[in-house]
Amino acid sequence: MDSNSTPEPAAPRRILIAVDGPAASGKGTVARALAAHFKLPHMDTGMLYRAVALTLWRWGGDPGSEFEAVRACEDLNFDSGDPELRSEPVSKIASSISAYPAVRRALLQRQLDFAGQLGGAVLDGRDIGTVIAPNANAKLFVTASQEVRAQRRVRELLERGMPAHYEDVLIDLKSRDERDRNRDAAPLRQAEDALVLDTSSIDRDQATTEAIRLIEARLGANDH
Ligand code: CDP
Repeated sequence: MDSNSTPEPAAPRRILIAVDGPAASGKGTVARALAAHFKLPHMDTGMLYRAVALTLWRWGGDPGSEFEAVRACEDLNFDSGDPELRSEPVSKIASSISAYPAVRRALLQRQLDFAGQLGGAVLDGRDIGTVIAPNANAKLFVTASQEVRAQRRVRELLERGMPAHYEDVLIDLKSRDERDRNRDAAPLRQAEDALVLDTSSIDRDQATTEAIRLIEARLGANDH
């Protein structure tokens, strides 16, 4: 090659970002903001579990049956704007069926495909940094106190015109945390190399600004 020729431009770097955290921690908001900032496609993996739950619920299937839950994973078609996906009964079913190893296996490939796309991606969930994308360039674990998360969930439900009582929501959230953290299959766990963002005393805008700052710093550090 002629030594004076212009060097090939470097291939654009593929950025894969993993965002995990417990219910109502703000991880979805943060993940969407990161995706917009870095111009990456985003997958809310909780939606997949919710879609399975909604399918099962519409069939009148038994959430206590791993077999029926796996059947609901076949031909999974859903509209992510469907308000039923975030309703309380569906959230409850999603929390229990997501503990089934066979359900997690059935949903694995589409998450791996999304994480593996050439241009990079942002995924959020419970096991992104640990199971789905352990080699992500940057991992963020978004958290907040149970009380703050319960208040957020109450506000969210009331805004959607659904009934919500703080005490009930808090009890429910505690039992969901317990299930997420203690299940055998892909429990909610902070990856060792994850950066932590505690959103207990900051608002939405501060959380997204801080998330972008943390991830940019981590990506910059990786380059050196
Ligand atoms: O917003 P919230 O945290 O309540 O729910 P979500 O993130 O939409 O997740 C719905 C359900 O799927 C939760 O009960 C999670 O335990 C489960 N989930 C999971 O097991 N693994 C994931 N990667 C994402 C969600």
